[in-house]
Amino acid sequence: MFFDKLSRMLNDVFRPKPKYITVTPVTDSGPTQMLPPSKLPRHVAIIMDGNGRWAQSRGMPRSAGHAAGTEALRDIIRASDDWGIEALSLYAFSTENWSRSKEEVAALMGLLLRYFNSEIDELDAKHVKITILGDVDGMPEPQRQALVNAMERTKDNTGLKLNIALNYGGRAELVRAARALAQKVKDGEIEPEAIDEAAFANELYTAGLPDVDLLIRTSGEMRTSNFLPWQLVYAEMVFDEGYWPDFDRAKYLKCLRVYAERDRRFGGVNEPPVPEEKQEAPAQAEEADKTKAAAED
Ligand code: FPP
Repeated sequence: MFFDKLSRMLNDVFRPKPKYITVTPVTDSGPTQMLPPSKLPRHVAIIMDGNGRWAQSRGMPRSAGHAAGTEALRDIIRASDDWGIEALSLYAFSTENWSRSKEEVAALMGLLLRYFNSEIDELDAKHVKITILGDVDGMPEPQRQALVNAMERTKDNTGLKLNIALNYGGRAELVRAARALAQKVKDGEIEPEAIDEAAFANELYTAGLPDVDLLIRTSGEMRTSNFLPWQLVYAEMVFDEGYWPDFDRAKYLKCLRVYAERDRRFGGVNEPPVPEEKQEAPAQAEEADKTKAAAED
């Protein structure tokens, strides 16, 4: 057991990390596009929207849209792992989704179970760490067990952090965190003054993860729908017009390129770039530094 863990850790440390994403887009006749890791988001969140409309526009039942959406999801998870994305959070089932027809909910629950049973070996072998965001105990028993097993089995993995939001509601997550902190105060574990942003974030399902850098939503809808309200505050949002089952690596890469070109200021001001003619040559700059240091002496 110990040696197994040690060999996994060593494997992870020495696993070659991608230097650049190099993908020749299928839908774009342009040249091969490259993105350096420093331009990649650490945490990507996706609202996979439009499964129902995808199916209905083909005269198929909505469940067929969810099945096609699961195929898209499989490849986007693989791409995130291939490209060295640190964390990927997917909105798979909200607390509001229980109000859909019995047939649709049953189809989604069936897909979920099949997905975990069929993918867990591959995900674990790739060192993916699975976390469920949401109320796992409120899921039907077979699904609950599969989710708990997946989390338990992958909890020490150090690869892609894959977070799947199931039975999830953003406001409910905030209330849950507030309640947990209130309980700690009541039990005398902490003083109210100890409650700061870090302490609050630590009570969320995403404790320990970086904030979301990039939110992608498909199907042309432009809202966040109660998904990760705390974690999204500084996220860049990119909206794709197509339905989720049509989302693929090429579209994902396009979103990453849009993100890479955004100017993220986090409420501050970025220095404007220095015009080329005003830039000092390295030797000149070094000389200027020396003169400044001598003057300060
Ligand atoms: C939104 O489309 C999609 C969902 C509510 C479910 C997303 C689920 C999957 C992609 C597959 C199952 C998940 C896993 C982890 C295996 P919609 O049905 O709201 O589409 P519409 O807006 O066109 O009606």
